[in-house]
Amino acid sequence: MAVATAHANSNIAFIKYWGNSDNHLRLPSNPSISMNLNGLFTKTTVRWDESLASDVLTLNHMVASGEALNRVSKHMDSLRNHLKLTSFAEITSENNFPTGAGIASSASAFAALTVAAVAATDQIVSERTLTTLARLGSGSASRSVPDGFVEWYTGETHEASYAESFAPSDYWSLVDVIAIVSDEHKAVVSKVGHTSANTSDLQQARVAGARERLAICKQAIIDQDFATFAEVVERDSNLMHAVMMTSKPPLFYWKPASLAVMELVTKLRLDGVNVCYTLDAGPNVHCLCLAKDVGAVQNALQTLGGAIVDIRTAATGLGASVIDTNP
Ligand code: DP6
Repeated sequence: MAVATAHANSNIAFIKYWGNSDNHLRLPSNPSISMNLNGLFTKTTVRWDESLASDVLTLNHMVASGEALNRVSKHMDSLRNHLKLTSFAEITSENNFPTGAGIASSASAFAALTVAAVAATDQIVSERTLTTLARLGSGSASRSVPDGFVEWYTGETHEASYAESFAPSDYWSLVDVIAIVSDEHKAVVSKVGHTSANTSDLQQARVAGARERLAICKQAIIDQDFATFAEVVERDSNLMHAVMMTSKPPLFYWKPASLAVMELVTKLRLDGVNVCYTLDAGPNVHCLCLAKDVGAVQNALQTLGGAIVDIRTAATGLGASVIDTNP
């Protein structure tokens, strides 16, 4: 059997995915949109091998076992089922950003794994189907398959919950300046949070307004209207964190340094800098800004001193791609 290597960027959501209508299929409670993050990527090689007795995973140069191997193997089972394959695979995967640096790796990881695993067969699979398959491994991975600015539809079936690009990566010069305030592994993984989202009294209201926020955000991107974009992105992030904080048990991802960065971003915007904040299931703050404002944002973050562990900067990135095949 053949071997293939794929590359996929991570992504940052502007309108967030939080909670599923079907946890098994990862059908999201609400649609979401994101942009890919250029240069924060996973590179994965898959080699299907009929002589193997189980999947073998090497992650960042170390042989993986336990939870990491189980999650990948479960995803390979979904792919075997779809591709009608029985053999196991040797998988070698690497992130170019440090694991545990607080930048989500499941999106780029499951996008790269899915694209490589399919490319290593002789089957032709559409981009739309690839997004649905990636979604089974990690919801946000569906959005790392298409190019640039991407929308992921809720859907009521596996096939209907897919992602597609609505603007290419060079459409608008948005940049994510990521203020890393903690490099600890997150205490509660997203999967647990998705299943507890409905225990918050606020989740229903958040979901009810998501389509309207998404429409506003998408139009703001199409119009390149930063002020409208900033208002709705911050509101959507705050809504998701309000749900997290009011779930049972409550999930508090913000650290004091996260709030310090959020305050700084608010002040910078009042001073005329095109920047806004958004936070995922962790304390790091994604400062989204226009390319011309990157220097101002980076300099302002430096004034916070020790509160900031690191700063990573990523422009809008391409979708996942196959970079090597050796039939
Ligand atoms: C807060 O896609 O990481 O980043 O499907 O369990 O892997 P799993 O969850 P995941 O959830 C992402 C949550 C988020 C918001 C977002 O990216 O939309």
